[in-house]
Amino acid sequence: EHIEWDPETATKGGYEHYMYKEINEQPGALRRTTQGRLNTHTGGVELDEFPPGTFSDVEQVHLIAMGTSHHAGMYAASLLNARGIPAYAFMSGEYSVVNPPVTENTLVVAVSQSGETADTLDAVRRARASGARTLAMTNVVGSSITRECDDEMLLRAGPEIGVAATKTFSSQVTALALLSERIAEDIEGTKSPDARNLMEALARLPGDVQEILDTSTAREIAIEYQDSDAYFFIGRGPAHPVALEGALKFKEISYEHAEGFAASELKHGPLALVTPITPVFAIFTGHEDEATLSNMKEVQARGAPVVAVTSERSTEVVEFADHVLTIPETHPEIAGILANVQLQLVAYHAAKLLERPIDKPRNLAKCVTVE
Ligand code: G6P
Repeated sequence: EHIEWDPETATKGGYEHYMYKEINEQPGALRRTTQGRLNTHTGGVELDEFPPGTFSDVEQVHLIAMGTSHHAGMYAASLLNARGIPAYAFMSGEYSVVNPPVTENTLVVAVSQSGETADTLDAVRRARASGARTLAMTNVVGSSITRECDDEMLLRAGPEIGVAATKTFSSQVTALALLSERIAEDIEGTKSPDARNLMEALARLPGDVQEILDTSTAREIAIEYQDSDAYFFIGRGPAHPVALEGALKFKEISYEHAEGFAASELKHGPLALVTPITPVFAIFTGHEDEATLSNMKEVQARGAPVVAVTSERSTEVVEFADHVLTIPETHPEIAGILANVQLQLVAYHAAKLLERPIDKPRNLAKCVTVE
């Protein structure tokens, strides 16, 4: 038998799209992101770049980024705030305009997959000029952002070609979870009692993601709802940025109307858009699930079908949802990474059914180097 190979297919490793290849590469990417950086015996974070004490004088953290990286920044802000550290996520394009006060004890973490996003570089320069300490979190060795910042932490996710960022989001949140733990430990001078659970969960993450890749029913969900009017995504706490990211991925590659909301925001407007032909994806992380469950029932009462992204342990959620996308049980702080993988798959399959050019969506670029 004769098999035709063009060079593009070869680099896609047999996958039809880079995006799908990169979704499937996540277990390996996450293994590299955490490699040598966590100690499950002590619950310690071991970052060669940042030995213990590096961040002891940090008083507040600003996370600046655009697009998918901004959602990772929001996620990290939520983790840091939960640890009692003042943290705020800004879109870099807004940062210079809002111009929030910084001091030399402000740590500005610039999150950029490419390390070349113009708005983020501009925000970093301004933060530095105001005296803040700057840290680049990027996937690209030697990128511009690493030259503009005082410090850097690399994602090690491997090259990402698809315009829609996938594996780099998972690696960003993972690396930010490690960095947040280091920052909190340095400020408090001690590990949190929960650190070991978190490190163990991070160590299990590649296997958990693999389990999702092997068992996901995302394609069936995409088929079931392919004729919908709009697609909504809701979550609270760290699941809020995951809802935004789920919607971003969906609209970028399917061109369908998709919006993410904080679950608490629903009754302040978005509920007016909810009908029987607007499926709602509700994200459950095992933290504050009760409240999201009641939001889920609110949209169901308006006739909207709900796809719950949840572990099977939330039995009430599983019982009331119209469909379930299952995630393995894990630490609530990182469950959002798993939920996001399910949403990446939903977006991919929805776009594929519509025959969209998944790796090169119209009007979008992998890297935006103009303001
Ligand atoms: C563009 C890309 C997005 C990306 C964003 C930020 O909009 O299409 O996928 O999230 O830029 O890029 P960065 O390289 O700074 O993470």
